[in-house]
Amino acid sequence: MFEGEGLVGTKLSPVLKPEPGVISDFDMTLSRFGCNGRRCPTSHNILDNSRVISEDGKRKLQDLLHYYYPIEIDPNRTLEEKCPLMVEWWSRAHELLSQQKIQKGDIAQIVRESDVMLRDGFKELFDQLHKNNVPLFIFSAGVGDILEEIIRQANVFYSNVNVVSNYMDFDDNGILTHFKGPLIHTYNKNNSVLQGTKYFQQLSTRTSIILLGDSMGDLTMADGVPSVENILKIGFLNDKVEERREKYLDAYDIVLESDETLDVVNGILRYLLTET
Ligand code: TMP
Ligand code: MG
Repeated sequence: MFEGEGLVGTKLSPVLKPEPGVISDFDMTLSRFGCNGRRCPTSHNILDNSRVISEDGKRKLQDLLHYYYPIEIDPNRTLEEKCPLMVEWWSRAHELLSQQKIQKGDIAQIVRESDVMLRDGFKELFDQLHKNNVPLFIFSAGVGDILEEIIRQANVFYSNVNVVSNYMDFDDNGILTHFKGPLIHTYNKNNSVLQGTKYFQQLSTRTSIILLGDSMGDLTMADGVPSVENILKIGFLNDKVEERREKYLDAYDIVLESDETLDVVNGILRYLLTET
């Protein structure tokens, strides 16, 4: 939590102003979970549902989702139990996707034709952070190429935005051959997969971190940031709200239930960043 008078407020001397950084999950955190009673797609789902996947491929990817997603969000299973199963899910899904001859040149169109939506208020969030030179790290177990295209099409892929995610590798003809490592799944979002990235360097002077996530796996995304003194963890509780509320309230500082907006995050940032 942000603690102590010195960190938050409008009457601070510049020296005492916090140096915030934002670390955010992407799927179901920056993107919407649902709209008008229908689920919105994750970055993987955008590919799965697209016209470039064969009917057989679609069915197999659906089967994986129906088998592994309940495990991912099960509050009664331990991390130790879930981790190997998540590696299994991601590996099998990436293997199937890599058999589909997906073309790099089709990605923009695939995203345009999808039902993905960013949460209401995304533009204010990205604009505020950019204007105030606050780094935004998107740490995602989704598909980096897809989520980058989403924020590019939304015209908010500013210079302060960095993405760590699973990226596709294409051959000389622009056809997907495999996903580059290390594999990032829901429950290894920590410094074990951040070697060689600009993550720590970019966040090295940041003493206050705002962490945004929707999964219990997102809670470790700020582990290892060197100068961090305060972390405000904001959790979107999207699914299985009743069963998971207690655990989310224990782990996150703020829990937003069935909220498809970024209003709370924007309000906090406005308060932190506005000089009067
Ligand atoms: P993240 O939001 O923590 O970055 O995780 C990505 C989400 O992607 C996670 O909730 C599970 C989901 N997912 C799919 O929808 N389809 C897939 O094939 C895989 C591997 C993951
Ligand atoms: Mg997520």
